[in-house]
Amino acid sequence: MSNSQWNDAEANKLPKTVAGLEEHKEIPKCTKRKRIVVVGLGMVGIAFIEKIMKLDVKRREYDIIVIGEEAHLAYNRVGLTSFFQHRLVENLYLNPKEWYSSMPEGSLNYHLNTLVTEILQDEKVVKTSAGDTVPYDVLVLATGSDAVLPKHTPGHDAKGVFVYRTIEDLQKLIEFADTKKGTTGLVVGGGLLGLEAAKAMMDLEDFGQVKLIERNRWVLSRQLDGDAGGMVVEQVRALGLDVLLSKRVGKILTDKDNYVSGVVFEDGEQMDCSCICFAIGIKARDELARKAGIKCADRGGGIVVNHDLCTSAPDIYAIGECASWENQTFGLIAPGIEMADVLAFNLTQAKAHAPRKFKRPDLSTKLKLLGVEVASFGDFFADRDGPKELSAKRHGGKKEGIIETRDRVKSLTDGPAPPPVKALTYKDPFRQVYKKFLFTMDGKYLLGGMMIGDTRDYVKLVPIVKNQKALEIPPSELIVGAQKGDDDGADLDDDTQICSCHNVLKGDVVKGVKDGTCKSIGDVKACTKAGTGCGGCMPLVQTIFNKTMSSMGQEVKNHLCPHFEYSRVDIYNIVYVKKLKEFADVMKECGKDPESTGCEACKPTIGSIIASLFNKHLLDDTRRGLQDTNDRFLANIQRNGTFSVIPRVSAGEITPEKLIIIGTVAKKYGLYTKITGGQRIDMFGAKKQDLVAIWTELVNGGMESGHAYAKSLRTVKSCVGTTWCRFGIGDSVGMAVRLEERYKSIRSPHKIKGGVSGCVRECAEAQNKDFGLIATENGYNIFVGGNGGAKPRHSELLAKDVPPDDVVPILDRYLSFYIRTADKLQRTARWIENMPGGINYLREVILQDKLGICADLERQMEELVGSFFCEWTEVIKNPARRAQFQQFANTTDNINDTIEPTEERGQQRPSYWPKESVKEDFRGTKWSSLSWQPIVKAELFKDVATGDSQAVKRGDTQLAVFKVRGKYYCTQQMCPHKRAFVLSDGLIGEDREKNKLWVSCPYHKRNYELGGADAGKCGNDDEVNIATFPVEEREDGWVYVKLPPVEELDGVLGTEKFKIKKSETKDPFDALDKKLKAAAMKGRKSLQVSHLEGGKGEKGVAAAILAGGERAAGGLDW
Ligand SMILES: Cc1cc2nc3c(=O)[nH]c(=O)nc-3n(C[C@H](O)[C@H](O)[C@H](O)COP(=O)(O)OP(=O)(O)OC[C@H]3O[C@@H](n4cnc5c(N)ncnc54)[C@H](O)[C@@H]3O)c2cc1C
Ligand code: SF4
Ligand code: FES
Repeated sequence: MSNSQWNDAEANKLPKTVAGLEEHKEIPKCTKRKRIVVVGLGMVGIAFIEKIMKLDVKRREYDIIVIGEEAHLAYNRVGLTSFFQHRLVENLYLNPKEWYSSMPEGSLNYHLNTLVTEILQDEKVVKTSAGDTVPYDVLVLATGSDAVLPKHTPGHDAKGVFVYRTIEDLQKLIEFADTKKGTTGLVVGGGLLGLEAAKAMMDLEDFGQVKLIERNRWVLSRQLDGDAGGMVVEQVRALGLDVLLSKRVGKILTDKDNYVSGVVFEDGEQMDCSCICFAIGIKARDELARKAGIKCADRGGGIVVNHDLCTSAPDIYAIGECASWENQTFGLIAPGIEMADVLAFNLTQAKAHAPRKFKRPDLSTKLKLLGVEVASFGDFFADRDGPKELSAKRHGGKKEGIIETRDRVKSLTDGPAPPPVKALTYKDPFRQVYKKFLFTMDGKYLLGGMMIGDTRDYVKLVPIVKNQKALEIPPSELIVGAQKGDDDGADLDDDTQICSCHNVLKGDVVKGVKDGTCKSIGDVKACTKAGTGCGGCMPLVQTIFNKTMSSMGQEVKNHLCPHFEYSRVDIYNIVYVKKLKEFADVMKECGKDPESTGCEACKPTIGSIIASLFNKHLLDDTRRGLQDTNDRFLANIQRNGTFSVIPRVSAGEITPEKLIIIGTVAKKYGLYTKITGGQRIDMFGAKKQDLVAIWTELVNGGMESGHAYAKSLRTVKSCVGTTWCRFGIGDSVGMAVRLEERYKSIRSPHKIKGGVSGCVRECAEAQNKDFGLIATENGYNIFVGGNGGAKPRHSELLAKDVPPDDVVPILDRYLSFYIRTADKLQRTARWIENMPGGINYLREVILQDKLGICADLERQMEELVGSFFCEWTEVIKNPARRAQFQQFANTTDNINDTIEPTEERGQQRPSYWPKESVKEDFRGTKWSSLSWQPIVKAELFKDVATGDSQAVKRGDTQLAVFKVRGKYYCTQQMCPHKRAFVLSDGLIGEDREKNKLWVSCPYHKRNYELGGADAGKCGNDDEVNIATFPVEEREDGWVYVKLPPVEELDGVLGTEKFKIKKSETKDPFDALDKKLKAAAMKGRKSLQVSHLEGGKGEKGVAAAILAGGERAAGGLDW
């Protein structure tokens, strides 16, 4: 058995982590640390130390001193028997010596060969056999057990009597056996330990014979029933061990030198032997605690602990075999490790999380004894003793209370009712296999069982019992198995079901691929649903997909756009490795045409990659032209050309003062307000020219950009969790605030949303987010890859029970990996779906560091987090950037309300868009005359690879002027599709091979040609086109446009003419409202009434409050 099996998985990596932290000088230097003293450096003591070191390594809240009585560092007691073969103590060490010394200086000290002799509670010190007095803040008792020696049996103190617990015990036994060659060795006790000791004594080959004495009728009576135990007896006897059943040692016989010479059994029978090893049980080591007045259990012993592992004394805890929980001590390692886990968690993580509780442990065991496989799991004696726990549903749907009453009545008449379980038994005397599985009466729930000879299903069965999940197969299948299908997709018929969760046939997948509907594995999942249930069929689905694709000679291309023969991931890597910070450099390095200005597909993607890697301001000259309109104005463009403004409200938590600031700003600038789905407040209707003033007030009020406009983290939604909620077990608000603050502003392939729920009730809907946390008793379950939207997807569990401190590194890796490897505009949901191996592969990369890149992913995120700035604050500070928010480049006049406002529920919104586009042939307009007009200063256009543009106003007409590679173009500003005056804000695209240059409308991406014979044509909608005008730059520094007279131009393109009127569309609620008005509407939102008797309603008392009247706290200054 490997020693590392007992280590915390992360413990081996600790030295590396510490070295990394030391290298980056990240170990906190705080000197006021608390001291934890651990008594006992056994298996549980070291487990606790490993866990607390892991959780505390970055906090450094504690220093640890461990004092151990034995001469050795913590060793693998479970694997003790292997010492007979190698005889090397170091081979048993759970951690090498260097592990201890590699911890941060002063954080871990150990003392061996030292017994703690006294605890002085009042002084908070312990005294040791070395004469030292050691102070503690927290004392952890992990003193384990002693092997029981039957002190009432005469001769128990003779030479040749041993127990089987420590390395010293074994060393003494080995030495002694060497002097007694050929004699008989005896092991008393047919439990796990006794069988193990007997095997070891046989293997020594010193004794002529080894005999095992058991007082019961079969061995392993604590784990197995008579049938199973009897089968084990048969098998071990066949291996040469003489087993004597139903025998009790009454007396140990000795010679004159007090050496063992034989035993007398209670039945009077006598037997010669030279050596006796007792393996008859253990006794908790509670003597130290008893002496100190700490409460210990009367029966069975052990230091009494509660669910938090606290003893009766303040700041003193007990864990492992020495602890008595609910009047029970545990002689197995797993419960001890769980105790260590709970305590380490509570001492470090319980500030942002409810403390964990130790719960009834699972006592399932699986071992190989004398070559015989033995396992017992779950409630393995439920048929003998009655089930320990049986919830109503596992009872076969009947209520427990009813059964209890029925049983009570029945037992008065017929005697006790048989336990409500059914057993399914399989016995194969040829292969020496025995299996007994216990089920609820209806066969729907597995309760436990035992297995001899074949224990391969143990791993599968234990979770079924633990999770109390209803079985989806008949009980018999658990024993005899089901017929397995063929895994090679090529040999399957088209009507073979390959995904049983969604009943998808092989033919469905093949057809989807062949008819072109499915071009990727993600498409297959989306179209057929194959692999979206348990995911077990994914390898087969992938094989079928690959084979079908290659049979069609197909190769999937994911090139970014016609300008690149690379995918987003390829370009990301090129930009990363070559450190390219400018679009022009990227185009030169890997574009098909190094001089191209790109298009609306590649520009924002490259802009996002550069931002993800180097986090520079988006509005710098060379980057502004890469941004979609939202990013270009750091606000979301709305239907009427105005913008919405969303300040960050991390986790949805907001102070009254900030609410007032938002309210004040919204009122001042006439903004419509609405709470968003991400728990923040959206202010709509902000004019481009007002954005800087609005943000100046918000920033001065302590708010910052919420990046609602960006492909980056939007919000981390939270429920209230332990902050207020009576069910909460995790501080979901605290965690969500930290995550939102960490990842805010980081640009990614698509928007990212997070959520944190304080318990399984999941009020934050964290499972439909790109990352979601749900607090569990042990930390958080981390879910990934969920989204709402057009193709909703429930997230998948990435990691379970993650301690709060480990959440951030895992999310850092996940998000960095997503940013590195996702396709353009690919949400995490599709990204994971398309990943070969899906969530399992992601787990390998993120949790098991399969690619060895986790440290790099974390470092990259750390750098990005460190480079944060508020984009709006930077704009406000910079006059050149502020100037970019003017509506027109040639005048400070503005044109507002291109859609007539509609008053609704006390606020204004733009009227609805009419259905029809403007189909007028602007392109073909015959102007009476055209003359050159100086329209805008040339210096306002930047000579950048992305192209630049400005909006200008002439009379009532709005025009868009573009400059690409030194040449100018001019079009109308209005996109006829929805009469939106936005074209100057569109991205410029080009195809130099075909000599085409276009602007892409930011609303619905209609692409209008800017020059050449087709100037004004729309490339993707025949119904619309636009007017274009000749334009040139002259030596006087002005850009001239050849235009018709003002009135004629206004007559065709004037803004007033195309303003959308309220009367153009019908109210969609007309019919519904008529119906509803029939019912009483008192108190409903659209009617202004007060809910108070005789109240004055919104317009009465509310106005007084707003004016700072009697009910206003201190009065509001609107
Ligand atoms: C041979 C063998 C095989 C086993 N096989 C299995 C198995 O297969 N599966 C399983 O689950 N369990 C098995 N166990 C049990 C398992 O080893 C224990 O459950 C586990 O070691 C308990 O850990 P602990 O830290 O509580 O106690 P221990 O490991 O006993 O550690 C306690 C330590 O505290 C020291 N100590 C006590 N008092 C003081 C004091 N006052 N001052 C200083 N130090 C003190 C002791 O000397 C000891 O080193 C086996 C045990 C043995 C002996
Ligand atoms: S998920 Fe709901 S019930 Fe659970 S802590 Fe949050 S608010 Fe409370
Ligand atoms: S308004 Fe729809 S594409 Fe321009």
